[in-house]
Amino acid sequence: MTSRWNNPTGGFAYHLQALSRRNTLWAPCVREIARFLSAWAPPEDTILLVGASGGHCLDLSFLSRFTRVVAVDFDPFAPWVFRWRARRLLREGRTQLTWDARDHLSPGRDGFDLAPLRALLDAHPGAAVLFCNILGQLPLLGEDRAPEQDDDAPPAGSYERWLLGLPEALSGRSWASFHDRLSGPVRPRDIDSATPVPWASSEELVRRHYPPTDDPELALLDHRTSALCRDAPRVQLVWELSPGLHHLLEAISFRSP
Ligand SMILES: C[S@@+](CC[C@H](N)C(=O)[O-])C[C@H]1O[C@@H](n2cnc3c(N)ncnc32)[C@H](O)[C@@H]1O
Repeated sequence: MTSRWNNPTGGFAYHLQALSRRNTLWAPCVREIARFLSAWAPPEDTILLVGASGGHCLDLSFLSRFTRVVAVDFDPFAPWVFRWRARRLLREGRTQLTWDARDHLSPGRDGFDLAPLRALLDAHPGAAVLFCNILGQLPLLGEDRAPEQDDDAPPAGSYERWLLGLPEALSGRSWASFHDRLSGPVRPRDIDSATPVPWASSEELVRRHYPPTDDPELALLDHRTSALCRDAPRVQLVWELSPGLHHLLEAISFRSP
C-alpha cells in the first residue's frame, strides 16, 4: 500500500505549489476545466470527487449544484486545504462535504484491482463520479507493467486492464475524468480545448502535438491512460504544472441515462 504521508501523486509540496500557481501558471488550465465541468452538468445530487486533493484544479462553484460532496483522497493535508478553499460554499449550508481518506485505488499484491473501487461505488449508489486528475497518476503507485505487455490484451493486475474495466464499474451513473496522457519539457502545440477530438494512440499524439526530436532531455512520460474509453470523444488541455513541465490532459464525460 502507498504511504499517505509520502505519496508521489500529491501531498504537502503539491499544496504549496498549487496555492502559489493556481491563479498564475495554472489559471488557463483551471479555466478550461471549469468550462468542461459546466458542460458536463450531471443530474445527480451527490458527487464523488476521486483524488480531490485541495480542489486546486476545480471551480468550486461547480459543486454548489450538489447537496452532497464525498471527497476521496488519502492525503492527510487535503481535507484541511479543501475545507478552507470551499469555506464559502460550505458556510452557505446547501452542500454537505464528507471525506473518505481510505485507499480504494492503490495496487495490492496482485496488482490493480477494481474490487475496492466497486465497494466504494456500491456505498454511494446514486452518486456521480469525477476523477480529478488522478487516473494518470495511479500508475506511479505500482510496478505492474511487464516490459513485454500487450496493451491490446493486458493481463489481470495491470493498470491497463483496470482502466478497461472502469467504464463497466461506473455504468448507470454520470461520470467524468480529466487526466494526464503525456508530460515533459515541451509544450504540446495545436491543442484546441474548445473542440472535442477522437481518441488517438500515444504515438499519434506525439506526432501531432510535439516537434520531432531524438534528444533524451526532451523525452515524454506516457501516463498510461490510453486504454480508457477509446470510443469516447475527448477534450484536450495543457497544464503547465511547473515552469517548463507541460502536461497534455484529456477530459471525458458521460451523463447517466
Ligand atoms: C494530482 S493530485 C489531483 C489534483 C487535484 N484534484 C487538484 O484539484 O489539485 C492527485 C491526488 O490523488 C490522491 N491519491 C493518489 N492515490 C490515491 C489513492 N490510492 N487513494 C486516494 N487518493 C489518492 C493524492 O493524494 C492527490 O491528492
